[in-house]
Amino acid sequence: MLAAALDNSLRAFAPEDLIPRRPASLDRDRVSARIGGQVVMVTGAAGSIGSELCRQVATFGPQLLVGFDQAETPLFYLERELAGKFPALAFQPLVGSITRSGDVKAAMEQHRPAVVFHAAAYKHVPMMERDAFAAVENNIFGTWQFALAAAAHRVEYFVLISTDKVVRPASVMGATKRIAELSIGALQNKSGTQFIAVRFGNVIGSSGSVVSLFVEQIEAGGPVTVTHPEMRRYFMTVAEAAQLVLESLSLGKGGEVLVLDMGEPVKIIDLARRLIHLSGLQREQSIKIEFSGARPGEKLFEELNLQGEHLAATAHPRIRSFRQPGQLSRTSMERHLRTLRQAMKSRDRAGLTQFFEHLIPDYCPALDLQQALPPSGQGTSFNPVQHPATQSGLAVPVLQVPVTNLP
Ligand SMILES: NC(=O)c1ccc[n+]([C@@H]2O[C@H](COP(=O)([O-])OP(=O)(O)OC[C@H]3O[C@@H](n4cnc5c(N)ncnc54)[C@H](O)[C@@H]3O)[C@@H](O)[C@H]2O)c1
Repeated sequence: MLAAALDNSLRAFAPEDLIPRRPASLDRDRVSARIGGQVVMVTGAAGSIGSELCRQVATFGPQLLVGFDQAETPLFYLERELAGKFPALAFQPLVGSITRSGDVKAAMEQHRPAVVFHAAAYKHVPMMERDAFAAVENNIFGTWQFALAAAAHRVEYFVLISTDKVVRPASVMGATKRIAELSIGALQNKSGTQFIAVRFGNVIGSSGSVVSLFVEQIEAGGPVTVTHPEMRRYFMTVAEAAQLVLESLSLGKGGEVLVLDMGEPVKIIDLARRLIHLSGLQREQSIKIEFSGARPGEKLFEELNLQGEHLAATAHPRIRSFRQPGQLSRTSMERHLRTLRQAMKSRDRAGLTQFFEHLIPDYCPALDLQQALPPSGQGTSFNPVQHPATQSGLAVPVLQVPVTNLP
């Protein structure tokens, strides 16, 4: 429907054309050593990042590629696409949820993957602000369950797809993904599964991204809504992101967070102007840009901060890494998760916010969540588990670039 309504100029453009191209080099031998001839499982395989990971993994000749996702129809299309592009590939689509223990256990027992890329998650910031418990269930408990199963089934490498929204999170989505990072860190030990988190910013053209929203608005004759004239985001293409995730797998030793260099942040208003321009002269003259104001959980700038003191260089120029100080033990993570389950059971929003604040000292909740907090933290189901290192929560690295939250 979308494509049919667009004129030729806009239909012909690729989202990648909107950002400077910075092709990433890939050490195919190093990646091949980890996934060639192996059983590789991708969760969220039908999504933007998961499906691109499947396409790229397919080029390394895995013994079997398992695509796990709860979205049946997109998985159906992925299977067809992979069959057409890679006739020799053994691909197994699996319809299931990371939050259902039976699905997770069956997937692991049946296929015994050597490598898992975990891309299944809820990611839409304003929606997850409203439906915080769904984000917690999926992004925290789903990840924990999948990671536990990976460890129990002796998966060699587990790669969590993370996001720049975990840095000083201003959203429930960012907070849940940060806790997902912490939870895989708690399962890390030298002799078992090696857990690696890979963080990056926005993928241009991914499902529900700002570019597809702008295209729809242009198709409808405008206006194009930009939240704030100064709003900026880091962007990379999905192919670039997946390539650097594979590279991260090849470099990861376990227990670290790898941070991708996203280049320079792009002003969202410039993206809007460029898209309107690409849509043709007639539209350029008639389509207006309106400022809508930031939505709950949105920041003016995201941080990636490749100059952060804690980041160390790796063998790849666009990947840096750090180890989280004061890593939680598995036992204390389990205690934290039991506390969180209580807040979930009683649908206690204030308790949830306090839980995030306790575990992530730099969490900066959206205004509506702050207002949900009772004075002095009383009257919630929250009963904090003290972290031995800080007695006030877990010390997480605060990377060294200032952030400006929207008022
Ligand atoms: N898209 C981006 O710009 C971007 C940038 C950085 C990081 N990330 C992170 O990458 C991850 C994936 O993002 P995406 O853009 O591919 O999202 P997406 O929505 O396109 O894909 C997510 C996939 O996960 C599946 N899924 C969700 N919950 C599931 C569950 N319980 N069980 C099984 N499958 C489930 C969905 O069906 C979907 O196919 C997210 O964690 C996101 O934060 C995305």
